[in-house]
Amino acid sequence: MLANTGHNRKIRRALVTGAAGFIGSHLTEALLKQEISVVAFDDYSAGKPENLNPFRGMKNFENIHGDVTDAKAVSDAMTGVDTVFHQAASKKTICMRDPSRDLEVNAGGSLRLLQAAVAAGVEKYVHASTGSVYGEPVTMPQNEQHRLHPVSLYGVSKLAGENYVNTFAAQFGIDATILRYFHVYGPRQESSDVGGVVSIFLRRALQDKPLLVHGDGQQMRTFTWVGDIVEANIRSATMPVARGKIYNCASGIRVTVNELASMVLKRVNPKIKITHGDPLPGDIREFDVDNSLIKRELGLEFERDFERGLNTTLDWALSEFAAKQTI
Ligand SMILES: NC(=O)c1ccc[n+]([C@@H]2O[C@H](COP(=O)([O-])OP(=O)(O)OC[C@H]3O[C@@H](n4cnc5c(N)ncnc54)[C@H](O)[C@@H]3O)[C@@H](O)[C@H]2O)c1
Repeated sequence: MLANTGHNRKIRRALVTGAAGFIGSHLTEALLKQEISVVAFDDYSAGKPENLNPFRGMKNFENIHGDVTDAKAVSDAMTGVDTVFHQAASKKTICMRDPSRDLEVNAGGSLRLLQAAVAAGVEKYVHASTGSVYGEPVTMPQNEQHRLHPVSLYGVSKLAGENYVNTFAAQFGIDATILRYFHVYGPRQESSDVGGVVSIFLRRALQDKPLLVHGDGQQMRTFTWVGDIVEANIRSATMPVARGKIYNCASGIRVTVNELASMVLKRVNPKIKITHGDPLPGDIREFDVDNSLIKRELGLEFERDFERGLNTTLDWALSEFAAKQTI
């Protein structure tokens, strides 16, 4: 663990937006474990209050129910904060329904946060972005210099968020790092139809329902363990080398959607059927991501054992299923 050692900067009080969501709640947990004060900010549009329940009552935990597009709420949340981890976002499926709201959240929310961070003299700003900013790969493996040509509404709005970060770094000198995530998986990921494919498949298999694959299922995904995303955030916030950088944050594990479906069914119930539906608009066919920069500069070692991560996620899904009889 490199975070908070030696010449690395220390995080004292962090604002985590989207803290009640999948990645935000894992990040909140890791920061609190390191005895860092956390202001957990979420509008609960997708996040779940129960994701934050274990931390309520802790002396270094504060929870704000707020919207990142609300300038006053964001500015109030920034009090005493030295580090911002901006995880809140309107996700892919929401974008298809309401692209304007999505632009407001993913671009406008980022703008509000950056304005408030500069005004409050925040030391470090870490920004969650996505591989969707690249669009269809023209060269592989894709490194951070790959052309930016998003093909989804989500990718467009997330790229606008990135552009604000870069502009604020250039104009106001804010120390910022952008992390481009690719298909993160792990416990607590939303398993409704707006969630990630791993958790959706696990839920459907546990409910004895067929797994719906969009298109022919030969599309490639690169899955990244949520713990690695948390570590990438903390290292970006603490290691001076991360200043002004954009990093691909992907493990390099490559699995087709059909392979994933088979792996899930092998574990849960091989008798369940796989059905194929229409391809999703803007769905990328193949991912091959160059993660050498983040490995070299931040010393990140990604979990390469997909089976292990899948088993841990299945254990979590089983406990949720047992507790609620529905996940
Ligand atoms: N999970 C992935 O595979 C993946 C891949 C690429 C990028 N990302 C990025 O990672 C970040 C976290 O994603 P996640 O998977 O944890 O998603 P998530 O939906 O579980 O978490 C996002 C959180 O943001 C909150 N939120 C949404 N709009 C908000 C608003 N206006 N104000 C305040 N809070 C708001 C939601 O309630 C939710 O708790 C996002 O920025 C997303 O774009 C995720």
